[in-house]
Amino acid sequence: MSAVIVAIDGPSGTGKSSTSKAVASALGLSYLDTGAQYRAITWWMLTNGVPVDDAEAVAAASGKPVIVSGTDPAAPAISVDGADASGPIRTQEVTAAVSAVSAVPEVRARITDLQRSIAAGAAGGIVVEGRDIGTTVLPDADLKVFLTASPEARASRRSGELKGKDASDVSTTREALIKRDQADSSRKTSPLKKADDAVEVDTTELSLEQVVECVVTLVENAASEK
Ligand code: DC
Repeated sequence: MSAVIVAIDGPSGTGKSSTSKAVASALGLSYLDTGAQYRAITWWMLTNGVPVDDAEAVAAASGKPVIVSGTDPAAPAISVDGADASGPIRTQEVTAAVSAVSAVPEVRARITDLQRSIAAGAAGGIVVEGRDIGTTVLPDADLKVFLTASPEARASRRSGELKGKDASDVSTTREALIKRDQADSSRKTSPLKKADDAVEVDTTELSLEQVVECVVTLVENAASEK
């Protein structure tokens, strides 16, 4: 398979991470979770006392943390200033603050540069998942996929993922998800948006295996056309 660049975007709870990792593993491609990078910078802001609702303070600090992302789909890792951040970036505190931090243009510029250099360095091809990959980060990607699902399906998947970690019922998760998607979709700088040339896949009625099969076929077709 040629070194394809694949952008997978969509809101939370559409199965984006599971699908992206499985597709990358199946096809021997690298994998980048860009949401983890926004979470990592948010975690750094919180642990270093930067007020996350103060866009100027966030912008001023945005160049400070050193974020290193692994690209192995079987063991995605992320570190901040040399410390493993894989666990701390998934807390409710980070989830509640990440939309505000990721809306700051200086944060986006810094993380976008990082994403482009990782994609350029992935000689064998890469699957990059996020919100603005097809529209802003990698507009020349060989394939752009936009995953969607009904709010109910997204909330029930997310609350299933959180079980055992946080006491969060489906309706609370649904409200938090909708709020975060609204913030991510309405921000000024590179909002969550389907690229005009992206293939939309509605995952509401599909199993993870079916979504993976569908995206693998799309990637194989894009690779053969390269
Ligand atoms: O995919 P996730 O839930 O881990 O993403 C966390 C947040 O990061 C999400 O609310 C929006 C932001 N994000 C973004 O703004 N742009 C991206 N490419 C990826 C994530």
